[in-house]
Amino acid sequence: MQPGGGAWVESPLRQGILPCHLPLQGRECHSNPHRMSANMPELERRRAAALLGGGQARIDAQHAKGKLTARERLDVLLDAGSFVEQDMFVEHNCTDFGMAEQRVPGDGVVTGSGTINGRLVFVYAQDFTVFGGALSERHAQKICKVMDMALKVGAPIIGLNDSGGARIQEGVASLGGYAEVFQRNALASGVVPQLSLVMGPCAGGAVYSPAITDFIFMVEDSSYMFVTGPEVVKTVTNESVTQEELGGALTHSTRTGVADLAFANDIEALLAARDFITLLPSSNRAGVPELPCDDPFDRMEPGLDTLVPANANQPYDMHELVRKILDHGDFFEIAPAHGANIICGFGRVEGRTVGVVANQPMVLAGVLDIDASRKAARFVRFCDAFEIPLVTLVDVPGFLPGTAQEHGGIIKHGAKLLYAYAEATVPKITLITRKAYGGAYDVMASKHLRGDLNLAWPTAEIAVMGARGAVEIIFRADRGDAEKIAAKTAEYETRFANPFVAASMGFIDDVIMPRDTRRRIALGLRMLRGKRLANPWKKHDNMPL
Ligand code: HXC
Repeated sequence: MQPGGGAWVESPLRQGILPCHLPLQGRECHSNPHRMSANMPELERRRAAALLGGGQARIDAQHAKGKLTARERLDVLLDAGSFVEQDMFVEHNCTDFGMAEQRVPGDGVVTGSGTINGRLVFVYAQDFTVFGGALSERHAQKICKVMDMALKVGAPIIGLNDSGGARIQEGVASLGGYAEVFQRNALASGVVPQLSLVMGPCAGGAVYSPAITDFIFMVEDSSYMFVTGPEVVKTVTNESVTQEELGGALTHSTRTGVADLAFANDIEALLAARDFITLLPSSNRAGVPELPCDDPFDRMEPGLDTLVPANANQPYDMHELVRKILDHGDFFEIAPAHGANIICGFGRVEGRTVGVVANQPMVLAGVLDIDASRKAARFVRFCDAFEIPLVTLVDVPGFLPGTAQEHGGIIKHGAKLLYAYAEATVPKITLITRKAYGGAYDVMASKHLRGDLNLAWPTAEIAVMGARGAVEIIFRADRGDAEKIAAKTAEYETRFANPFVAASMGFIDDVIMPRDTRRRIALGLRMLRGKRLANPWKKHDNMPL
């Protein structure tokens, strides 16, 4: 209820049409229904105060760091004029440490809804100019309100994080607020896409909200994420490390994989977020978005016939194939700098979004290791949760050997990818371009993991291992006899270094010419549009974590 009860007459839509017996307390209704409410200037004053956040000096300081303010960020992120703000007048309820005198309408976070390329999204943007964007109980309530609404109506949630963490003056009330957000992050997972843009500090327990969301974008030199900062690290472990080294955008988008992408500045990150959200379904029930497509589904690509080099050990760039399959070659890659031996990302075929997973022979020969397995497993699960068909391109020599991998738990991490593909019920199309060796053959969306359409190029080699390695094991006693080993290697190659053995068993549905790949995948996706497949009932699974 608005102060003074005169709010009813404020809406231009209602002016002059409200019957006077409605519970209006404002005397002006009876005397002159067109008179301005005294609250109108007050509304303007309050709005202006909210728009100014922590004040011009702090806005200038934000700009001096190369950062946009929360509202400027939303202006870039959302379609022009589409932002509908809510809770602009919410204030904190803290009276300790002189806080009663320090109230800023909005309380350090701007929340509401808007559209991106015409589609509804819910947003919250922490305002660093107000108490350093620190999270109070009320600040958290505002975030929770938009998250609840996003879940009710089925639209993505985008959080712009720029915060000094828990509002120190509020103590445990703030911690409770964080947990309320975490709880909603968990409930929203797999229901609506959640994207975090970390555009400033994000430290301590605060990191766990972005960590639960589906994707994290960061901004170089102005954002960082860590559980404990450099000073605590120095005290506890005596290590000296900068914020950037410990948890900057480059660290997280390369080493740790916590962030999916790093951008040079706020604008680049926000514009990328627009493209990204446009690719995603609004919810797990909405189906993939469909755009008009003028790229012919049967576009032939003769260049692909020579993509795979004659020498099996020579790499080639799998991106080339990815782009030739997708509409207009547009590919939005996720985590390109982490676990780069596997490529994951989104594109469209005939205007409809697909998720692409592809081994990359250019990096570590496309082998599966811990980073690649985890990265791809999470990607596959996202696609499955949101009904995005999976296109898997295979050229994999196996799992990476070594103590670092074994002791790092490659068994559990590799199992994640296997599990993700095995449980996925979305359309799954797999194409083997060259190597599909050993367990990695099974893992990469093979027929045995309910692959719907499993194709191979004539250059495919589907075997337990490479010919040379196989012969050296089978004919160990003849290792010194180079001639015999060479002959046996040739024999093994003839027998297994092709797709036809697997095709004769029905493990490969067809062997296709490389130039024809886009057409065959497009036709496969068309065929699979009506796919319905359900896993056995369970409360939830217990995937290897
Ligand atoms: C209240 C805060 C605040 C906080 C910053 N401010 N962090 N107010 N609670 N957590 C205020 C500052 O007092 C200052 O107010 C303004 O925000 C900007 O802060 P500066 O320090 O001037 O900015 P900068 O130099 O850029 O440094 C940013 C910062 C630093 C690195 C984030 O402010 C900082 O270290 N803050 C404390 C971080 C922290 O320890 N947070 C609690 C972590 S524990 P004025 O009025 O001067 O503009 C946590 C637990 C979460 O978060 C658990 C969840 C489960």
